[in-house]
Amino acid sequence: MDKKLALLKEKTIVALDVDTLEEAEHFTRILSPYINKFKVGSRLFSALGPAVFKCIEKYDAKIFLDLKYHDIPSVVGSSCKVIAENHPSVFLITVHASGGLAMIAAAVEAVEFRDDLDIVAVTALTSLSSSEMGLLGISLTLEDWAEKLGDLAIDAGAAGLVCSPREVEAFRLRFGKAPIFITPGIRPENKRQGRDDQTRTRTPAEALDAGSTYLVIGRPIYQSEDPIATLKAIAENL
Ligand code: C5P
Repeated sequence: MDKKLALLKEKTIVALDVDTLEEAEHFTRILSPYINKFKVGSRLFSALGPAVFKCIEKYDAKIFLDLKYHDIPSVVGSSCKVIAENHPSVFLITVHASGGLAMIAAAVEAVEFRDDLDIVAVTALTSLSSSEMGLLGISLTLEDWAEKLGDLAIDAGAAGLVCSPREVEAFRLRFGKAPIFITPGIRPENKRQGRDDQTRTRTPAEALDAGSTYLVIGRPIYQSEDPIATLKAIAENL
């Protein structure tokens, strides 16, 4: 079990999609013996701003800042630079690949002075389904669109991609060992049929087998009645 818990710690990023400092403090405190990487997304950042980083740093954990920047290149570059300069515990920042080559390149260039911080690009949100592609005016299949965005992001210099665990195998074959692939949309075996907004899910073991570098897991942990038992069950099945 120790090896499995070590693998869990190496590979898992817990998404702290909560609204209050009390909740953020609670989860970082109880999870930090098992987890050393936490994701701060737009929900928590909108509620608390960078002040929330402190409660993660207290446990020497690293921060995946998932604000999915999508703006003109100069604004995205400046936003990434200010994070890189002021927050050494942030090790990953997301941008939307659909923001385009120049925007991704601006983000990459802005953080080049930090060897321990990478820009990763979100391909297609894991909540999107094929039926929505037409509504977005995109004639490609969801898979082809995600692949196109992946090509663009890697060409622009992104260190990796945030993608569906169902797409990661194809991306790993396409881009080889080097890129970081981060997969949300992870549902433990027993939660697979759960009804939420994630449509393209995989279990943790399936995602790792397919080539994920990091698994992002949110609700299955922070909505669990016993988050530690859930973590241990996930580790057991790795
Ligand atoms: O609660 P759940 O495990 O579904 O959390 C998934 C997390 O991953 C959320 O914080 C969401 O913002 C993020 N995410 C995603 N799909 C992407 C990129 C990020 O679900 N393509």
